[in-house]
Amino acid sequence: MNKEERVIIIGNGISASVVAMELCKHKEVIMITKGLESNNTVRAQGGIATVINENDQWQYHYEDTLRAGYHTNHSEAVKLLVRKGSNYIKDWINNDFPFDRNHKGELLIGKEGAHTHHRILHAGGDKTGEIILLFLHKQILGNVRFISNQTVTQLIVENRKCIGVEMIDHTGHVSTMYADDVVLATGGCGGLFEVTSNHPSIMGEGLSLAYHAGATLSDLEFIQFHPTLLWENGYTFGLVSEAVRGEGAQLVLGNGERVMKDKHVLEDLAPRDVVSRNIEKTRRAGYDVFLDVSMIKDFQKKFPTITNLCEKANVDLTKGLIPVAPGAHFIMGGVVTDLQGRTEVDQLYALGEVAYTGVHGANRLASNSLLEALVFGKQVAITIKDSPSRKKRNNQRGQTNFIHSTKQINLPSLQMLRKKMNKYVGIYREGFGLSKMKQWLESFSLHQPIDSIPPSQKALYHQTMAAWLIVTSAIARTESRGAHYRHDYPTCKEGLQDYHINRRKQIREQQMISGG
Ligand code: SIN
Repeated sequence: MNKEERVIIIGNGISASVVAMELCKHKEVIMITKGLESNNTVRAQGGIATVINENDQWQYHYEDTLRAGYHTNHSEAVKLLVRKGSNYIKDWINNDFPFDRNHKGELLIGKEGAHTHHRILHAGGDKTGEIILLFLHKQILGNVRFISNQTVTQLIVENRKCIGVEMIDHTGHVSTMYADDVVLATGGCGGLFEVTSNHPSIMGEGLSLAYHAGATLSDLEFIQFHPTLLWENGYTFGLVSEAVRGEGAQLVLGNGERVMKDKHVLEDLAPRDVVSRNIEKTRRAGYDVFLDVSMIKDFQKKFPTITNLCEKANVDLTKGLIPVAPGAHFIMGGVVTDLQGRTEVDQLYALGEVAYTGVHGANRLASNSLLEALVFGKQVAITIKDSPSRKKRNNQRGQTNFIHSTKQINLPSLQMLRKKMNKYVGIYREGFGLSKMKQWLESFSLHQPIDSIPPSQKALYHQTMAAWLIVTSAIARTESRGAHYRHDYPTCKEGLQDYHINRRKQIREQQMISGG
């Protein structure tokens, strides 16, 4: 054990907490967060997918994941996910994790979109994420230092090694902190869109932080739009889990006509991208879309979180209809990592939604994200635990020799950024709109050294930069695949052999062109 060695984890969701739990007995662990609520895990209603049923096999879970991902997944990463995932979940079950059970004490195993078998475990009905976080936080409390109300503004890199972070607190105070290893677990980018299931503070900054540190990013164009956010009076009130359709709910128009009938063999449980596009098309044609939940017995007991959201939105559940619309939910691409979660910058790891492990391909299979966080969280922790001791960092502790620029730069308002991301980089995209968005983003002060930006503007700068990185990727993919749908290139290109090798090469070349 070497508590002299320090690990900084940026984030506090499931992936951050798994690493913290695994390392806190061995290292000094510091978790830096914008706020304790600032993560998407706590909002995760849907469960955790794992092979648990007798008639299921890891090969089926593997194939479903590849099929949903339109075969752009990294197959080795998917194997690791489904095989190790199922062992880890069995450990949790043996350690009395409170997965939902029936009155006989048997595990309740649900089904969600694009899964061929029942393999979704839930906790507290639709409170799976919240209960997982409680479970993990109980184990790390007292052994980990939480630094809250801080936004990380820069990763400190020396000789291609990440040695610490610069951060700013809510009063504008800037500080630096050094570490032996830095884990980026900042979540995705849903907050960059006007309509999202994400916590609004999750705005893709991790992507830009890693980009400026010299890491490679990939597949950022693949953003999953969840088909069913509760939508009332022009606002979203939160997620209506796919588990509700897993229980039999159907998407309908006001007159009862079914939205997904004849649209896909799996109808309401078709892959998310298919369902979202159909709902969006229907809504654009001027029809409201509802989830008919009238056939679900004990809805309020099974889905307490959704019941609560309906109350907040004044939706009368006795009528059995929940108004819904799609919204940004999950980014499949991110900071490229190997199977150990290592980025291309030494001592910098990426994990969870900010990472591109390659498990999700062009479209994530439902309930695979919590599993990814668990499996790759363990991978990162094992790698950090086993890495040779580094004494050098101790000399750097407390060093604050940054000169901060005070010259304000020109950036968009967050409100306008979100509006335009929804409009041009949403469910339906096309070249003209994407280029218009890119030009608009480039009218701001984007391409300049990160040190020349005043710390108080760095968060908005990173959000704008993340949007630029996403748009640039969306322009580069001249085909429609999975969650990336372009009107001007409506079909998939063939030739996916060696996708991963070629894609990484391509991205590296693009980054060199753009000076990243
Ligand atoms: C849901 O409950 O529908 C969301 C869960 C997930 O994104 O996998």
